[in-house]
Amino acid sequence: MSTAIGEPVLVAHIGDRTVPVHLGDGVLDAVGPLIAARGEGDGVLVVVDDGIRAAADRVAASCSGAGLRVSIEVVPAGEASKNLGEIERLSRAAARVGIRRRDTVVAVGGGVVGDLAGFLAAAYQRGVRLVQVPTTLLAMVDSSLGGKTGVDLPEGKNYVGAIYQPEAVVMDPSVLHTLSPRELSCGFAEVVKYGLLQGGELMEMVAAWPALPGPPAELADLIRRCAAVKLEVVEEDEMDLGRRAILNLGHTVGHGIEAAAGYDLYHHGEAISLGLLAALRISEATLGLDPAWRDRTLETLARHGLPTALDPSVSIDEVFDIMGRDKKADSHALNMVLLRAPGDVLTHQNPDAAVVRAAVEELVA
Ligand SMILES: NC(=O)c1ccc[n+]([C@@H]2O[C@H](COP(=O)([O-])OP(=O)(O)OC[C@H]3O[C@@H](n4cnc5c(N)ncnc54)[C@H](O)[C@@H]3O)[C@@H](O)[C@H]2O)c1
Ligand SMILES: [Zn+2]
Repeated sequence: MSTAIGEPVLVAHIGDRTVPVHLGDGVLDAVGPLIAARGEGDGVLVVVDDGIRAAADRVAASCSGAGLRVSIEVVPAGEASKNLGEIERLSRAAARVGIRRRDTVVAVGGGVVGDLAGFLAAAYQRGVRLVQVPTTLLAMVDSSLGGKTGVDLPEGKNYVGAIYQPEAVVMDPSVLHTLSPRELSCGFAEVVKYGLLQGGELMEMVAAWPALPGPPAELADLIRRCAAVKLEVVEEDEMDLGRRAILNLGHTVGHGIEAAAGYDLYHHGEAISLGLLAALRISEATLGLDPAWRDRTLETLARHGLPTALDPSVSIDEVFDIMGRDKKADSHALNMVLLRAPGDVLTHQNPDAAVVRAAVEELVA
């Protein structure tokens, strides 16, 4: 069966690349025709993790239905698969099935598979075509967009990678119905981040969001709006030298908490929930942000199952230690993103360490 994919809902112009974003229930079944329409390179390697195989089977079926040669490589679900050993294993698998320069890697999954298969596509034979098929809310609004790909080292997360834009991003929100409530909530923390960055209608939509995932038409609209915010920033600063830093709202303290808790107690989005609240508190103290925004944000995060108080077992000293070492920070400055109001964002802020510390201490339940 071949399904037409229709017009993209967004088209980003990133460097000299044009990246269409297709979004809609059922678009998963149109990945094959989309690739085949290019008319060159009939080899496809689908990479997926063992938590979401069914989606990869649908993508693969659409590829073989479109006359493409397709194989599937499965990696174990979880961050531990984002390593150089998997890149070697997948590269050799690609070589064995005859994937060549004009062929395509399709990443079907969350941010783990997107980052891993994205880096595979960037590095294998110095770059093959890449299609991102994000299947988590986080991947739809964040990790599949903007071209950051890579793997972890024991020394640090995302330490080896490349910026490599996909030829297309294909999002099918209907797959989110099988995602666990915890993973949905984690993705929603990034959605709240976009609401704060954009302000206005998006902020109102986010603050009023019903139970996750939410009604299909509204959910697709929410994902499209968040993706548009991210892509607009990436269009301006693909290489992450300036404005792209605004996407780190909530991530300075958030990363500190995530790492200090050993990447175990909190999933990324949960740590970002706390990081956002700290950033708002610091914004109140240094930029006069109206405290009502923090109250509203806290209520929204809590309603969607995200933590709003820091577990007392997490050492605040360690949070600070890690924040100082964060590879995204300049040598000594904290380099935070802060708000005067939703939609009125300042990057490269260096609030007083005492203000930051007070904001983190205030998070403790
Ligand atoms: N490249 C970027 O710009 C960027 C941005 C943010 C995060 N990331 C990376 O993203 C990763 C986290 O991604 P994530 O939160 O999507 O986690 P994930 O990729 O680990 O997916 C979470 C879990 O959900 C399962 N899953 C995926 N889709 C599903 C579905 N539709 N139904 C049921 N289960 C499903 C997976 O099997 C996995 O077990 C991290 O490695 C992070 O570094 C990258
Ligand atoms: Zn994040």
